[in-house]
Amino acid sequence: MPDNIAQIGRQAALAAGAVMRLNYEQPHEITMKGAIDPVTETDYQCQDLIMAMIRRAFPDHGFLAEERVGEGGQPSSAAAPGCSGPAWEADPPAACRWIIDPLDGTVNFAHGCPAFCVSIALEADGVLEYGVIYDPMRDELFEGLRGGGATRNGRPIRVSATDRLDRALIATGFPYDIRERIPATMARLGRIVAVSQGLRRGGSAALDMCYVACGRFDGYFEENLKPWDTAAGLVILTEAGGKITTFDGGDYDIYSPNIATSNGVLHQKMLEYL
Ligand code: IPD
Ligand code: CA
Ligand code: CA
Repeated sequence: MPDNIAQIGRQAALAAGAVMRLNYEQPHEITMKGAIDPVTETDYQCQDLIMAMIRRAFPDHGFLAEERVGEGGQPSSAAAPGCSGPAWEADPPAACRWIIDPLDGTVNFAHGCPAFCVSIALEADGVLEYGVIYDPMRDELFEGLRGGGATRNGRPIRVSATDRLDRALIATGFPYDIRERIPATMARLGRIVAVSQGLRRGGSAALDMCYVACGRFDGYFEENLKPWDTAAGLVILTEAGGKITTFDGGDYDIYSPNIATSNGVLHQKMLEYL
């Protein structure tokens, strides 16, 4: 693995964040990818910028990125393996692959709510090695390097020590196919609300994972996320001492259908209610 991975990933994340900050107050050009699933011109602009910066540094690396731009700037219907949505996947696959969510929290961004970020991960030979998530409105840069720890703006971060659910602040999110999942999802929310101190839905899965990593949240769970939603967060949260599984306690990977994350201490207790 090249040794300037973090340097290039960080530069790309900061550059994309600067674009989001510039565009935030401007009117947005919004296209719908599904009934409630928007994409803005800023999503495309950030993805293009990130990929160009990475390509310049690493011409032989591959990509798995959320937005695929086809003819006329419209998203293509081509799906990446294991994913139902449109995505850009390099062909042929490369040993080093960058997994990119150019703007996580697009609904917030489109509505002028300042909770969104860019999420970039590097996978080498199938192993996630590095993750960077940048929140441009709060100027918070989260990074994780496999075996090297996790940081927020360069300072080490750690998960919370909360060991009681009734003292735990838990976060969740709703997938874009939520309308097909209402009974099961609402029942799960009801169980967590009944036993936790509070439940939050921030609107950015990547930031939710960072907030567990730095102890602001004690746990976070969601269904049907995509690889680009969780890849960088996985490295950051693991390095910060967090635990990540599926709802039934199984091993989580970026293609898993659901994710349960916590500070570790609370994990088993939280799983009982999912
Ligand atoms: C979404 C956000 C949201 C989560 C959705 C994701 P996007 O990503 O992370 O918090 O609840 O499931 O799809 O579309 O804003 O990149
Ligand atoms: Ca996302
Ligand atoms: Ca996105």
